[in-house]
Amino acid sequence: MAIDYQERIPNNVGLADNRSLQRALEHWQPRFLDWWKTLGPSDFQAADVYLRTAVSVDAKGWADFGRVRMPEYRWGIFLAEPDADRTIGFGDDYGKPQWQQVPGEHRSVLRRLIVTQGDTEPASVEQQRLLGLTCPSLYDLRGLFQVNVEEGRHLWAMVYLLHAYFGRDGREEAEELLNRHSGDPDKPRILSTFNEPISDWLSFFMFTFFTDRDGKYQLMSLAESAFDPLARTCQFMLTEEAHHMFIGHTGLARVIKRTLEVMRALRSDDPDTVRAAGAIDLPTIQRYINFWFSSALDLFGSETSSNAALYFAGGLKGRPNEARFEDHRMLGQTVTLQAPDGQGGIKDETVPARNAMNEAVRSAYVEECDVFLQRWNGMIAAAGFDTRLALPSPRFRRTIGFWAGVPTDPLGRIIGAEAFERGCREWLPSEADRAFVHSLMRPVTEPGKVAAWLAPPDRGINGQPLDYEYVRLA
Ligand SMILES: [Fe+2]
Ligand SMILES: [Fe+2]
Repeated sequence: MAIDYQERIPNNVGLADNRSLQRALEHWQPRFLDWWKTLGPSDFQAADVYLRTAVSVDAKGWADFGRVRMPEYRWGIFLAEPDADRTIGFGDDYGKPQWQQVPGEHRSVLRRLIVTQGDTEPASVEQQRLLGLTCPSLYDLRGLFQVNVEEGRHLWAMVYLLHAYFGRDGREEAEELLNRHSGDPDKPRILSTFNEPISDWLSFFMFTFFTDRDGKYQLMSLAESAFDPLARTCQFMLTEEAHHMFIGHTGLARVIKRTLEVMRALRSDDPDTVRAAGAIDLPTIQRYINFWFSSALDLFGSETSSNAALYFAGGLKGRPNEARFEDHRMLGQTVTLQAPDGQGGIKDETVPARNAMNEAVRSAYVEECDVFLQRWNGMIAAAGFDTRLALPSPRFRRTIGFWAGVPTDPLGRIIGAEAFERGCREWLPSEADRAFVHSLMRPVTEPGKVAAWLAPPDRGINGQPLDYEYVRLA
């Protein structure tokens, strides 16, 4: 079904045919706009921004670019096209028809999954609300706002499911999604990572690289769900999410590119020398990677999890690209994971494969992150330097799972608590690192100009030149 932009709420779910649902969502809409105006991007509500808006849900032509003030962005409800032949792809009901309604026995678990996913979307907008004030270019400012409006749309995606399929509980949960706020001591966001403000652009690129990529894997798992409206919602969200990760990996590549230019010009890899020239030294970038990667890994949950086993058995949450696996039931299978033995050593732990689903998803994520690190290492090697960036071990600095609270170094070797404390000063961003990165955060808002701590992008957005006025400040 085509997206109907004549409606107050653009949608391709036939909202006009369901008056009570339409009314309920039209009631929620002004609350959303109030939230956007108070907790969305600070100081830029009147700016004219070059943004893309979905116009159809097929692979091509779903993005229409135009200039819009953010509060007038057409947030709506877009699901991927239905596939009548699709059957349940995994778990105990493998091969049976997909569900068009929520089965009673899965109701509370599905609601929880949707609420948890939904909560991260507005949370990230709140975390990033002050970033615009220190944008390194208008191109980057536009990128930030594109991410922000789409996270707002992802909130709509989850709120639609809550309203349409979960009755009064769903409507209450939709309200709560606007009542919790990132960092609010009384009503914080559900996941702790989403309560930390993101106050510099290096962190923003790390967030869109590492944390949005966790989001991608969660959405890929939900896109396999037997609950068809959830699966199709997430399938469409993934097309938007891809651009957020593009902003992350190209942003980091541009930071590294500039650092290497400075290192070559000065013939030095000395961090102080690089900093004095206004670029971010590679050891600082490594420390930011250590920090952001380890906190993103926790988002996948414990290595073994009875909840994960229930989600898989029930057909609620599968593995990313479930079709590429041979066995979709995973009954009677086991996997062996490494766990600390509590005496400073490591032991093998053999568990039912269904209980280790979080680990299967996390491993795929780690592999994908590493592809980009190797690309950046190629840039460093080509520039003639020996430093290599690396992901820390998944055991490092974990707060969830087997390795929670077990002190290890970034290579995953178990060490003493004191050595860990001391080591973290070297492995994680220090106050001085953060102060240095913050000192670089000065707004650059002249069209075509880019801050000196990162290279310009390779090309503009949607074929526009680099000096295009991506954001016209009010
Ligand atoms: Fe999102
Ligand atoms: Fe995102």
